[in-house]
Amino acid sequence: MQLQDAIKKRKSVRRYFDKKPDWRKIIRAIDMARFAPSAGNNFVLRFILVSDEKKIAKLAEAAQQDFVGTAKYVVVAVSDDSKLVRSYGDKGVRYAPQQAGASIQNFLLALTEQDLVTTWVGHFYDEQVKEVLDIPENLSVEGIFPIGKETKVKTSEKRKIDLENILYFDKWKNRKMTPQTIVSVEGV
Ligand SMILES: Cc1cc2nc3c(=O)[nH]c(=O)nc-3n(C[C@H](O)[C@H](O)[C@H](O)COP(=O)(O)O)c2cc1C
Repeated sequence: MQLQDAIKKRKSVRRYFDKKPDWRKIIRAIDMARFAPSAGNNFVLRFILVSDEKKIAKLAEAAQQDFVGTAKYVVVAVSDDSKLVRSYGDKGVRYAPQQAGASIQNFLLALTEQDLVTTWVGHFYDEQVKEVLDIPENLSVEGIFPIGKETKVKTSEKRKIDLENILYFDKWKNRKMTPQTIVSVEGV
């Protein structure tokens, strides 16, 4: 699959086919996360692949989102900013979630490429998630990802913000390029 096809195809899916997906595909997607950029090449994100049904049910409770409990596999991404803080002080606190986001996007695209679906679940009670998975208190849970195969009931893709609404030239809010051209997706 071409990169731009994977980027456009990825979408949040909250309904999963009953059959277990192949766990090897999930591990392959986690492997892709390692190739994201990280400050000073300090990769501080870790992934927990959860298959224990009871733990998955507890993660759904911690997120207060029932669909999480319907997945056969759930991946939890956890970062430890201590190395980054040692190297970069306060900036390290900022770098950890930034590089987690970059890695997570690699992971999401690699799932998409292998026909697996998920949703990035960011709403959860941290303490509950940590308790279920024995995650030390000082670490940060960056996201919960219930994973499955898409059912026949397809989820529609969300309309995305237009390019002209996110792009400025030379200064904040300036939408025009010099020489004056209004940039559109079609023109790129
Ligand atoms: C940081 C973050 C937190 C999110 N938290 C949740 C969540 O708790 N529950 C949920 O159903 N979706 C969650 N989402 C998914 C968004 O709702 C979804 O990405 C957005 O609606 C755009 O749709 P798309 O992913 O299909 O493009 C989260 C996404 C991000 C990036």
